[in-house]
Amino acid sequence: MSPLPSTHKALRQDVYAEPPTVQTIPTPQPTLGSAVLRVERAMVLNYTGDIYNGKRQYPYPVPLTLGSSAIGRVVALGPDAVALKVGDLCLLDITISARDDVGGEAGSTFLNAIIDGFTPASKKLMRDVWRDGAFAEYVRWPLENCHVIDEAKTKALGYRTEDLMYMSKMLVSYGGLGPGCVNIRPGETVIVSPATGGFGSAAVHLALELGAGRVIAMGRNGEVLKQVKEAEGEKGSRVECVGLTGDWEEDFKALKGVSGRGGVDVFFDVSPPAALGSGHLKAGIMALKKGGRVCLMGGIRGDVGLPHERIMHWNLTVKGKWMFEREDVKAMIRMVETGVVRLYQEGGIKPFGTRCEGKYKLEEWKKAFDEAERVGSDGFVLIEP
Ligand SMILES: NC(=O)c1ccc[n+]([C@@H]2O[C@H](COP(=O)([O-])OP(=O)(O)OC[C@H]3O[C@@H](n4cnc5c(N)ncnc54)[C@H](OP(=O)(O)O)[C@@H]3O)[C@@H](O)[C@H]2O)c1
Repeated sequence: MSPLPSTHKALRQDVYAEPPTVQTIPTPQPTLGSAVLRVERAMVLNYTGDIYNGKRQYPYPVPLTLGSSAIGRVVALGPDAVALKVGDLCLLDITISARDDVGGEAGSTFLNAIIDGFTPASKKLMRDVWRDGAFAEYVRWPLENCHVIDEAKTKALGYRTEDLMYMSKMLVSYGGLGPGCVNIRPGETVIVSPATGGFGSAAVHLALELGAGRVIAMGRNGEVLKQVKEAEGEKGSRVECVGLTGDWEEDFKALKGVSGRGGVDVFFDVSPPAALGSGHLKAGIMALKKGGRVCLMGGIRGDVGLPHERIMHWNLTVKGKWMFEREDVKAMIRMVETGVVRLYQEGGIKPFGTRCEGKYKLEEWKKAFDEAERVGSDGFVLIEP
């Protein structure tokens, strides 16, 4: 007998940008190349409301079960699964690519239930194959996007399932700071801008955990920057806060003021679309020492002028990064399971943005979306279907 009920509840949107409803629909069944998981927790991004009310204009097909990254337990497996086992707790990665797009030539990557990507290949894959997200009791997920978490190890470290969700925030930063992009090394100095948002504050924490000697945290809001620094406890002594004005000369002067004799190795940017035209990008690049590396992860749309002469004379490397690679997810989970990267410090000091501010049922989706927006980057909200 199938361990799956014939129907389950899911938060669905039938018309783009219209309010979703909780619907009872057939439970997804495992197919070749997929697993079906019981969703335990699903992340509500602080701008989830703006994705699904159309304000962010993210393209996605409907009808759709909404959702984002999640943690779920394997209930049933497709016939080709060999490593995953029923009962495994998994981090569900929403970054999906076509299996035959090995070199990435077709540009098939999209973010499940959020955005259908930027090519006919990605749009086809989301429209025709994978689509439904984790705001549901059950999900069908690509086998390669289910990443097993060793519960015994994480429990021994004192982490609860909701604590583990913070990994999904750190993962985006790891895509940029890790070996798939600028690969920060112990002792290096890293600028994070802006450091006050969800992914920026996670980048500050992660850079410290990965051994950055100093993190220069840029932001427009001095009070929040201070909170990001103080939430790191003792490690906060390695964080310098610098105001971000958007005027390149002013920002450059401020960065030079704290960069010290060793110079700055890495400039990591994760600016929102509103930062288009801001001079802090140029300032960050100009502040690098010879051979420095730049990682651009921000959601800025439109073209940006870069200081070409400086990039050339200073042998700088400029890289972009969308999300992360599959091996980054494995590495992140391993680092957390082994305590190399800590979700929070001894004595319970919690880094900025790691507090779970509420768990909501599917029916409470509106409250969850509103609360996530209110909490902003200082914490996160979960759906517990
Ligand atoms: N490359 C990728 O894979 C990837 C993945 C996820 C997200 N992203 C992008 O990353 C961006 C940030 O995401 P998030 O979740 O961290 O957003 P968030 O939590 O909303 O944070 C955005 C930050 O930007 C600051 N900010 C707002 N307007 C600014 C401006 N004009 N100049 C400088 N700073 C400004 C905000 O602080 P103040 O308003 O207090 O200054 C806030 O700290 C998003 O746009 C998203 O598209 C990229």
